[in-house]
Amino acid sequence: MRTRARHRLSLSVSVDMWRGYLFLFALFAALQLISSEENPIVRYVHGIVGKSVHMRCVLDHPHSIERVYFQKKNGSGTEIFVNGFYNRWLDVSPMYINRTIINKTEVSMELLNLSLDDEGEYSCIPFSYNANPTNTTKFYLTVTATYSIPNISVQGCGIDSGAYNCVITCSSSGGFPQSNVTWHMAGGNMRSLLRDEGELELAQDKQSRLWSVFKYVSLNCTQQVNITCSVGGVVSQAVSLCTPVNSIDITAVACIVLLLVSFIIIIIIGIKCRTTTNRTEDPTTDAELATLK
Ligand SMILES: *[C@@H]1O[C@H](CO)[C@@H](O)[C@H](O)[C@H]1NC(C)=O
Ligand SMILES: *[C@@H]1O[C@H](CO)[C@@H](O)[C@H](O)[C@H]1NC(C)=O
Ligand SMILES: *[C@@H]1O[C@H](CO)[C@@H](O)[C@H](O)[C@H]1NC(C)=O
Ligand SMILES: *[C@@H]1O[C@H](CO)[C@@H](O)[C@H](O)[C@H]1NC(C)=O
Ligand SMILES: *[C@@H]1O[C@H](CO)[C@@H](O)[C@H](O)[C@H]1NC(C)=O
Ligand SMILES: *[C@@H]1O[C@H](CO)[C@@H](O)[C@H](O)[C@H]1NC(C)=O
Ligand SMILES: *[C@@H]1O[C@H](CO)[C@@H](O)[C@H](O)[C@H]1NC(C)=O
Ligand SMILES: *[C@@H]1O[C@H](CO)[C@@H](O)[C@H](O)[C@H]1NC(C)=O
Repeated sequence: MRTRARHRLSLSVSVDMWRGYLFLFALFAALQLISSEENPIVRYVHGIVGKSVHMRCVLDHPHSIERVYFQKKNGSGTEIFVNGFYNRWLDVSPMYINRTIINKTEVSMELLNLSLDDEGEYSCIPFSYNANPTNTTKFYLTVTATYSIPNISVQGCGIDSGAYNCVITCSSSGGFPQSNVTWHMAGGNMRSLLRDEGELELAQDKQSRLWSVFKYVSLNCTQQVNITCSVGGVVSQAVSLCTPVNSIDITAVACIVLLLVSFIIIIIIGIKCRTTTNRTEDPTTDAELATLK
């Protein structure tokens, strides 16, 4: 402050202003240096691709904050400005302008529509009105992506006791980091039925860096099984395999058809009998029915 006061006395107004900005810049740089050397308050934040995270500066007196810079350490280790607030306009890069929301009252920043590139080290650098030292908060942001609900496809898992070529595949996409495919069999161990197992096939989208996974196994269809697969904690719908339902269905359908046919035959015979008796003994039918009752 002393240097600034001296300049104000000796130099013209415009130069003084220029010096003032330089001073602020120097102060800013100095604080940054201090912040990286001092022990900052550390927060670990986790976000999911497409969702948002909230970074709230940890402060003893949030209302005494005049200015805040949120910065990110980029790949080469230099700090880049993300967003913040001050009583004058701040130059926010187009990368962040529509993806960040600053809340002055709670001194926080929300980062929206996360991508994997947002992972890294952020810091909140506050400045108080009275120039008292304030604590810097460091946020270590990790981003993951949730895999889609896995799809199970089934080929050739028939009713034959020798359906050796029962092949099932499990696939899921859009996840991060890489994940294994695990199978689960209701009420049993799938290992005992496993005949063959493919390698885990992984593919990464170049732009989004998200993974898709694929795996096949082939089973020995010796019993009916219900299986699910899971990728990165996301579980597929259960599928029933090697079910003998088809043969049961056929016999059931046959039984029902047989019953229906016999019913129809009985009804037809009944109607035929009634019509023939009606024709021959018309006047006596009522009397006959009465006596039957
Ligand atoms: C940010 O949003 C405004 C208003 O919706 C739009 O005009 C501008 O082009 C956007 N900027 C970027 C970099 O996406
Ligand atoms: C800022 O945060 C405070 C406290 O959580 C909240 O009440 C307020 O609505 C927020 N302001 C904005 C503009 O979101
Ligand atoms: C979110 O970001 C992705 C790219 O990372 C972009 O394709 C998408 O349009 C963005 N969504 C919104 C709602 O801005
Ligand atoms: C801020 O830093 C000071 C000195 O390093 C420390 O005494 C104080 O507890 C810190 N405040 C918080 C909220 O951690
Ligand atoms: C899963 O199946 C649905 C519907 O058939 C399809 O839209 C989706 O792309 C499939 N996902 C994967 C990872 O194969
Ligand atoms: C994936 O799971 C299989 C079977 O459980 C196991 O043998 C393999 O080591 C796992 N691979 C990884 C990368 O975890
Ligand atoms: C399938 O299982 C049956 C009964 O456990 C066994 O006899 C048969 O050898 C198995 N076949 C193959 C190809 O593993
Ligand atoms: C498989 O699931 C069906 C219903 O979806 C159930 O009726 C059957 O008992 C299950 N079988 C096994 C072996 O768990």
